[in-house]
Amino acid sequence: MELNLHGKTALVAASSQGLGFAIAERLVREGANVMISGREVEKLKQKACYLESIGLGKAAYQKTDITNAEDIKRLVNLTVETFGGIDMLVNNAGGPPAGSFEELTDEEWQDSFELNLLSYVRMTRAALPYLKHEGGKILNIASSSIKEPIPGLVLSNTFRTGIVGLSKTLATELAPYNILINTIAPGRIATDRVKHLDQVNADRQGIDREEIELQVKAGIPLKRYGTPEEFANFAVFLLSAANSYMTGSSFLVDGGMIKAI
Ligand SMILES: NC(=O)c1ccc[n+]([C@@H]2O[C@H](COP(=O)([O-])OP(=O)(O)OC[C@H]3O[C@@H](n4cnc5c(N)ncnc54)[C@H](OP(=O)(O)O)[C@@H]3O)[C@@H](O)[C@H]2O)c1
Repeated sequence: MELNLHGKTALVAASSQGLGFAIAERLVREGANVMISGREVEKLKQKACYLESIGLGKAAYQKTDITNAEDIKRLVNLTVETFGGIDMLVNNAGGPPAGSFEELTDEEWQDSFELNLLSYVRMTRAALPYLKHEGGKILNIASSSIKEPIPGLVLSNTFRTGIVGLSKTLATELAPYNILINTIAPGRIATDRVKHLDQVNADRQGIDREEIELQVKAGIPLKRYGTPEEFANFAVFLLSAANSYMTGSSFLVDGGMIKAI
């Protein structure tokens, strides 16, 4: 299968660790140039150094708070200045706080809207002029909550489905430019975010995090969490030339966790 990523440029939002970083690494291993971003300069510097050390695609970084419109413009401009264009955009962000409807304030709703939905709108808008040049790919990272609401995560359940509506709409609006846009929905991929959520659930129930992990894994047909590398494999396929006919779709990477058809 020909991925054809050599020399292409990817901008990966929120990518100093976890799923975003795993996608960045896999892209670099395929010879793509990658701009990574996040809020901590030291972490970004180290990760970009590591990506460069792989010796295939090039890597650069930019400190970015994805909830800040000016930061987003700077990130897009720097990517174009550094690598000459943008062929792939990966929309990603940190996760919203856990909480049920009655626990959350207006401020937390507004913050999550800006982090988990508006940032995807702004990133897409800013990168669009460059993606239009020769066509390109947009990949949105969402959550299994787009298929089945997760108890205690009403912010994710609400805003991630917004990403799907946006993506489906853009699949039609951007098809004339040969821009393909898809959404990938992780179930339980072993990252700091999942550790954090398991700890929140453990604290609520007054048990150990390991106990929560066992309970969650019992409900996953493959009986384990996925690895960021497994997640990145599919993400990179969707971003590559090998995907030439999928757009406007949403895909679970969840070890079979979501039972809905
Ligand atoms: N892992 C899973 O199984 C899973 C399941 C469902 C949904 N998700 C969602 O997928 C997304 C990525 O998850 P993950 O597991 O990779 O999380 P993670 O390990 O916590 O990584 C989050 C990344 O986002 C960056 N980030 C957070 N807030 C940011 C901001 N305001 N501006 C710029 N960068 C920001 C973080 O860097 P800094 O903190 O340095 O900025 C970090 O690089 C999250 O939205 C998560 O809720 C993940």
